[in-house]
Amino acid sequence: MRKRVAVIGAGNVGATLAEHIVMSGLADVVLYDIVEDLPQGKALDMLEATPLWGVSVDVKGTNELKDIEGSDVVVITAGAARKPGMSRDDLLNINAQVVGSVSEAVKQYAPEAVIIVVTNPMDVMAQLCWKTTGFPYKRVMGMGGVLDAARFRTFVSMALGVSQTDIEALVLGGHGDQMVPMPRFTTVRGVSITKLLDKETIDKLIERTRNGGAEIVSLLKKGSAYYAPAASTFQMVRAILLDEKRMLPAAAYLDGEYGVKGIYMGVPVILGQGGVERVVELELNDEEREALQRSVEAVKTLVDKLNL
Ligand code: LAC
Repeated sequence: MRKRVAVIGAGNVGATLAEHIVMSGLADVVLYDIVEDLPQGKALDMLEATPLWGVSVDVKGTNELKDIEGSDVVVITAGAARKPGMSRDDLLNINAQVVGSVSEAVKQYAPEAVIIVVTNPMDVMAQLCWKTTGFPYKRVMGMGGVLDAARFRTFVSMALGVSQTDIEALVLGGHGDQMVPMPRFTTVRGVSITKLLDKETIDKLIERTRNGGAEIVSLLKKGSAYYAPAASTFQMVRAILLDEKRMLPAAAYLDGEYGVKGIYMGVPVILGQGGVERVVELELNDEEREALQRSVEAVKTLVDKLNL
């Protein structure tokens, strides 16, 4: 039987992600939104593209959460997006209601699913989703690190004049202003960028990465980024559906790893069929550890606000 992915939220990120999944032929897609007819329209439009894409999967739009039944993976993108001048954290209360009620539905209708939370502020929304569903924490994660690393890779490639695809990057911490791009672990085919760029340049690239989401928001004016967020989420969905055991950064529940306990944080993990199969612990230097700690504190403040 074909795999099935439910995408909750048919806005720009959700619909673009659905397009990636359908176009790849990896799985059937159920696209949910509260707005009447919107997911049905986008799904039908995509279905009519399947003969051209040469794929045989199904895509269905719905306003009923019960239609996510039997999904292997559920991606939660629903919620408000940022407007210019807003931080991801400003979305806390409004999106907590959305993610809370969607998580209840996932618990009821897709109790075996692996969940990827995309809605911002993502780390705390992942924690809320895990608490609400009561799922084992390996089956609930957040998407942030793949996107932040993709932005860092792009900016490094621009600075060095080297193909984006030859650059690997790592970004730790929450998907917020305190995220921790890691130059020591960012390489051009294995050569650390600390050997290729001076500190001042690297600091500028780190700053641009931290502001990467806000930079797009300020250009788009209405809404936030979606091409790179959807492509990042697709990479995670594929790793799970195909049991790829890929090492990717994701917001995962930490149970003592990196000296952090009881909170979701962006760290490298091994992603496979079971979700977060393992957290990969790297040896950090003092500066990196302190930066990660600041990011932990920032996420904790939000987690406390929601009493999670
Ligand atoms: C961004 C938003 C989606 O980083 O968090 O673009």
